[in-house]
Amino acid sequence: MGWAGAAAMILGLALLWAAVLGDASPSPPRLRLSFQELQARHGLRTFRLERTCCYEALLVDEERGRLFVGAENHVASLSLDNISKRAKKLAWPAPVEWREECNWAGKDIGTECMNFVKLLHAYNRTHLLACGTGAFHPTCAFVEVGHRLEEPILRLDLRSLEDGKGKSPYDPRHRAASVLVGEELYSGVAADLMGRDFTIFRSLGQRPSLRTEPHDSRWLNEPKFVKVFWIPESENPDDDKVYFFFRESAVEAAPALGRLSVSRVGQICRNDVGGQRSLVNKWTTFLKARLVCSVPGVEGDTHFDQLQDVFLLSLRDRWSPLLYAAFSTSSTVLRGSAVCVYSMNDVRRAFLGPFAHKEGPLHQWVSYQGRVPYPRPGMCPSKTFGTFSSTKDFPDDVIQFARNHPLMYNSVLPLGGRPLFLQVGAGYTFTRITADHVAAADGHYDVLFIGTDVGTVLKVISVPKGSQPNGEGLLLEELHVFEDSAAITSMQISSKRHQLYVASRSAVAQIPLHRCAAHGRACAECCLARDPYCAWDGAACTRFQPSAKRRFRRQDVKNGDPSTLCSGDSSRPTLLERKVFGVEGGSAFLECEPRSLQARVEWTFQRAGEAARTQ
Ligand SMILES: *[C@@H]1O[C@H](CO)[C@@H](O)[C@H](O)[C@H]1NC(C)=O
Ligand SMILES: *[C@@H]1O[C@H](CO)[C@@H](O)[C@H](O)[C@H]1NC(C)=O
Repeated sequence: MGWAGAAAMILGLALLWAAVLGDASPSPPRLRLSFQELQARHGLRTFRLERTCCYEALLVDEERGRLFVGAENHVASLSLDNISKRAKKLAWPAPVEWREECNWAGKDIGTECMNFVKLLHAYNRTHLLACGTGAFHPTCAFVEVGHRLEEPILRLDLRSLEDGKGKSPYDPRHRAASVLVGEELYSGVAADLMGRDFTIFRSLGQRPSLRTEPHDSRWLNEPKFVKVFWIPESENPDDDKVYFFFRESAVEAAPALGRLSVSRVGQICRNDVGGQRSLVNKWTTFLKARLVCSVPGVEGDTHFDQLQDVFLLSLRDRWSPLLYAAFSTSSTVLRGSAVCVYSMNDVRRAFLGPFAHKEGPLHQWVSYQGRVPYPRPGMCPSKTFGTFSSTKDFPDDVIQFARNHPLMYNSVLPLGGRPLFLQVGAGYTFTRITADHVAAADGHYDVLFIGTDVGTVLKVISVPKGSQPNGEGLLLEELHVFEDSAAITSMQISSKRHQLYVASRSAVAQIPLHRCAAHGRACAECCLARDPYCAWDGAACTRFQPSAKRRFRRQDVKNGDPSTLCSGDSSRPTLLERKVFGVEGGSAFLECEPRSLQARVEWTFQRAGEAARTQ
C-alpha cells in the first residue's frame, strides 16, 4: 500500500467509521464473570503489596516455580501455584538525592520520583537483571534468586548497581521494551530526562554499545516502543535478527495532514557492530516497515493505527512464529480496538522489498528505483554467504544508503488482509495480548487473552472461517480479574500450570486458563461453549486432555454444534416447567436468563387446543 492511501484515509476517518463499522456492534462474550464470582468459584487469586502501586514487570520462571514481579520501589517473588501465598519481597527505593533532583526538575515527589521497576529478565542460572526508573535516574542491578532447587531467595546485589540509561525509561508513564540475548540487552527507550532522545540501544555484554542515529526523524520519530523480540532466521547465528515493535509519527505523511500515527516493525542484525568511518557505534542494519491493521471499506480503509502490544507465538519452528498484535485507534470519534495476525515471512518480505525514498519538488515519498548498493542494506554480514564478515567492512555507499533509507516502501499486511477480531464501541480498548496454542479434539486452536484499559481480560479463540488463513475471533469470556478498573499493564501465561498472570496499577491477579464448569451442567451447553480447553466427559464439562484416551469426550470447537454430539445423551438441556399464576388483565413477570450471553431467548405462546406461536 502506498502513502497516498494513508493520506486519503485520515481525512475521511470519521465518516468511514460509521460506514464500515456502523453495524459492527460490540460482540458480547459468552460468559461474563465478575471479580466476586471469579474469586468465590473460579480460583482467582490476587497479590498486592502495602502502599505500593504500579505492577508492571512480570517474569514467569517455570523451573523455580516463581513469578517475579516489578512494582513501585519493590521486586517480589511469588509462588506460581498460588500468588497469594507468602511472598518474598525486596525493597529497592531510589536514594534521597535522586528523589530531590527529580523534584527540582519539576516532577511530582509522591507519584513520579520513585523507583518504578520496569524490567526483569532472567540473566543467568542464579541472577535476574532488574531495571527501574530510579526517580528519573534509571538504574539497573542484578537480583540473586538462587539455584533452581534451593529454597527461594531474593537479594539485591548492591555492588552490581549500574547506570540504567538506555535500558529503563526515565518516565514512569513510559514502557520498557527490551530483550536480553545472551548477556546483551536490546532496548527501545527514551535515553534522556526530557524524553526526546529516542533510541534503539544495545548495552551490557562485552561489545561497545550501539544505538540509532540520534535526533534523525527518518530513523525514529517520537516512537513509543511496545515489544522487542530476538528471532533467529536459520541455524546460522550470523543471520539472527532482533525485531522492534513500536508506533510513531509518520515521517512519510504529507505535512498538511498533521501528525499521523503509524505502527512499525523495525529490524537490526545481532552481529551489527556499527560502521568504520561513519555510523560509528550506530546500527548499520536498521530498517523499519509499516505494520497495517485495517478494515477494508468501499471508500477506503479504516485504520487501527496505535500498536499496543505484540505476542510471539512459536508453533512448528522458532524461525517463523506468528505475531498476534493488539491495536487501538487514535480516532477521538469512536473507541475501537483490533487484533491482527502477521506471519514472520511477510515481515521479512517487506524488508526485502523496495526502499522508501523522498524525492521530487513536492518531497513525496516514493518507491526507490535507483541502484541499491551491495551488500543490500539490512542484510547481516555473514561468512557463509557474503564476502563481508563484519559491518565495519561494509563499503561507504552501503553505509550512506543505510543511513538515508531506513524506511521500506511496502507495508506488512495482516494474514487474511483484515483483523482477526475487533471490538468497536465496547467502552474499552485493548492494552495487552498473550496467546496459548491448544490441542483440541478437532484440531489446534490459538486462544488469545486480551487485557483492556478497564481491567478486564477477554478470552478469544481463533476459529477457521471458510478458506481464510487466519480465521475469525470468537469472544468466549470477559473476566473482571480486578476489584477496580485500572488498565492492564502486563500478562504472562504458564502453560505448565495452566494459569494466566495479569498485572495492573493496583494488583497482580492469577486465574486458570479455563473454567469449564462455568459453561453449564449439560452436554449441549459445554459443546456450545466452544472452549478448546473444555469437553463433556459424560457427566460434566471438564478440562480436555488431548493425551488421555477418553473416547467419549465430546467437544466441537469448530462448529459448536451439539445436535449430533449430544443427541441421545441423558444430559440434554433439561426442560424446566414452572407455573406462574396471574390475575386476568394483570401482569406477571416471566424470567428466563440463559447462562450464555450469546444465547437467544424466544418466547412461544400457546392457547389451549392451539399450536404454539412465537411472540
Ligand atoms: C492460596 O494461598 C492463600 C494464602 O496462603 C490461601 O488462603 C488460599 O487458600 C490458597 N489458595 C489455593 C487455591 O491454594
Ligand atoms: C550470574 O551473574 C551475576 C552477575 O554478573 C554473577 O555475579 C554470578 O556469579 C553469575 N552466576 C552464574 C552461575 O554464572
